[in-house]
Amino acid sequence: MSRPFIRPRRLRRSPTIRNMVRETELNAADLIYPLFVVPGENVQCEIPSLPGSCHLSVDMALEVAREAYGLGIPAVLVFGLPEYKDDQGSSAWDPASPVQKAVRLIKKEIPELTVITDVCLCQYTSHGHCGLLRGQNVDNDLTLSLLGRVALSHAEAGADMVAPSDMMDGRVRAIREALDSRGYEQVAIMSYAAKYASAYYGPFREAADSAPQFGDRKTYQMDPANVREALREVALDIEEGADIIMVKPALAYLDVVRQVRDSFDLPVAVYNVSGEYAMVKAAAANGWVDERQIVLETLLGMKRAGAEMIITYHALDAARWLQES
Ligand code: PBG
Ligand code: ZN
Repeated sequence: MSRPFIRPRRLRRSPTIRNMVRETELNAADLIYPLFVVPGENVQCEIPSLPGSCHLSVDMALEVAREAYGLGIPAVLVFGLPEYKDDQGSSAWDPASPVQKAVRLIKKEIPELTVITDVCLCQYTSHGHCGLLRGQNVDNDLTLSLLGRVALSHAEAGADMVAPSDMMDGRVRAIREALDSRGYEQVAIMSYAAKYASAYYGPFREAADSAPQFGDRKTYQMDPANVREALREVALDIEEGADIIMVKPALAYLDVVRQVRDSFDLPVAVYNVSGEYAMVKAAAANGWVDERQIVLETLLGMKRAGAEMIITYHALDAARWLQES
């Protein structure tokens, strides 16, 4: 019988030693909280497909943003449900739409909180696609100027960063040029660089009323089978001027996160998307998993894979749990 003389368990003997040798740390400062802003006043209405998250009117979005900031969360990502939809998605750049109003109010009241806006058309178009249609096809180049307008309207409202999620080719450059031409060269672009055509977006589309009315998003979002293509998408967005690159979804794509982290120098964000959240919520509601432990372990895994920032619907809870632990 040979006795081991190398014993990894020596460094697991006590909480103090385990803390000393821990390689990855999860902090509230790593988290970004998504907000869904709706028309009206005093609306705080739980979203059925995202239990624990709410549709918020502008005034309530401010209160939730305050709560996030108080918990040490440095940024919110703002989505909107508009008052009207049309085939161009023109409410996306309307200065009176919920996103623009919320950004204005939050930046006025909590200037230290970083406000990021999702730039896309799918919540605003009557057909639910992320770009302008020509026949049944999403026309890439016609969409670019509209995305520039959307980003500009967010910058004018005071957004610190814009996050294009449409997956059109050339959108980062188009947005950068639109911003710079109007003096917003300090507004950063967090690009959804490697965004996959994923079934994990289901609960979000219900929450944002943004499901495509026909077809799917496979002609613009990426094939889940591809990782070399993800690196090419990221490289292109960096060349076009992205400041932060994002991989989305997170959980089934942590290998992509690792490769992107190892291949580029820019900060990397991951989006812990709605389907990932909803699965945990459903299992926890059945008593099948311990929500707190599952969430902290999952978010830690995303950091360990190489993400500096995690967009997550669990941000408020996770920040609270991290304060307690
Ligand atoms: C809009 C957008 C989507 C998400 C973020 N921005 C949905 C989609 O592309 O259909 C998904 C977020 C989530 O599932 O949590 N383009
Ligand atoms: Zn979209």
